Amino acid sequence: MKLIQITDLHLVPAGGRILGIDPAARLRDCIDDINAHHADADLVVLTGDLANNGEPGAYDILDAELARLRVPFRLTLGNHDDRAEVLARHPGAADGAGFAQSVWDGPGGRVILADTLQTGAVEGHLCAARLSVLDGWMASAPGPVWLFLHHPPMALGMPALDRVRLDAPSRAALLSLAQRHGRIAHIAAGHVHRPSAGQWYGIPVTTLRSTCHQTAFQFEDRFASVPEPPAYAVFVIGDEGAAVHFHDFPTRDLRA
Ligand SMILES: [Fe+2]
Repeated sequence: MKLIQITDLHLVPAGGRILGIDPAARLRDCIDDINAHHADADLVVLTGDLANNGEPGAYDILDAELARLRVPFRLTLGNHDDRAEVLARHPGAADGAGFAQSVWDGPGGRVILADTLQTGAVEGHLCAARLSVLDGWMASAPGPVWLFLHHPPMALGMPALDRVRLDAPSRAALLSLAQRHGRIAHIAAGHVHRPSAGQWYGIPVTTLRSTCHQTAFQFEDRFASVPEPPAYAVFVIGDEGAAVHFHDFPTRDLRA
């Protein structure tokens, strides 16, 4: 099973820029690269911050680009997204409880997308309604669960990012689910705009670069965005386990 993760697109209405970067051009280059090299993937998962400020014009760009994607996709939300706007455009992304959560079964296990958007907050949250849906999906999973969500539960050792990860009550509830079902093979997150790999209570966790701008690699208690290269991730999942590749896809603006 081959999965691809794209995260933190931060799309803005046509013509807009972030740190001099055109987020739409970056997504176009990302999808071009996936279509050229990974059209055989089973699923593309988008882990939120699809738009920078939840603007309809930004989601227009997203939908036009997703229409070109040669691989099926699922999406969930980040703290910069507008839940109502996205679910109106993608009703299949909804879990029946009003959140952008979905489940997909493939040959290497069950992919679960969790919606950690807490409107008005930067940190992530999983309320009782969302946890109940996730509980049911984990209970009925036929095999390993590949959990994709925006906010990582894992601390990176970078204080400005660690303060705004999945909040403490949600981490405790997610850990309870994970331990009760024992099915989570991997947690893949976005939000931090940094590539990292580690573990959370023994569960492997990875985070990924944005397709747009990145977080400065600094461990002091301050935050800065920098125009480092973008990436997407490729999960190659087999009987023995999984490899996660972080691919800095080529972009027209960095080649220029
Ligand atoms: Fe982001």
